[in-house]
Amino acid sequence: MYIEWKDVYCIGVPRIDEQHAQLIKMLNDLYQKIGPESSPGNTWELLNGFNRYAETHFICEERIAVDAGVPLGELNLHKQEHEDYRERMRTFQHAFSENDKNAPIQLMAFLSNWWLSHILIRDMELGRLVRNAQQGTNG
Ligand SMILES: [Fe+2]
Repeated sequence: MYIEWKDVYCIGVPRIDEQHAQLIKMLNDLYQKIGPESSPGNTWELLNGFNRYAETHFICEERIAVDAGVPLGELNLHKQEHEDYRERMRTFQHAFSENDKNAPIQLMAFLSNWWLSHILIRDMELGRLVRNAQQGTNG
């Protein structure tokens, strides 16, 4: 579904916020091109750019968290969510390779739900911790 970028999605770390806005823009572009009529083969091609950008983003975000000294418990929890996402995407990739006709629309629903809830919950907490660490406080 089409996602309109809102200021409430900002986690307060400019580099991450810019990447999130770009990811949502790319998702919206994909949403216009992918539908019930899309062939799984074509869809996966369209997704390549998004997948590459998402992976670069995860690595960048984790690096920012490490550099800021985010507590290890939260860092690991966060990395695990990224890893779970990669695992889900591998499952989708398999469905696409099997030419599952439902896969494109299911994937779009998964992507919009996952990114919004990850940004609003896990990344929001990360943003708070990064900003606190940068201000030299702990809480
Ligand atoms: Fe994240």
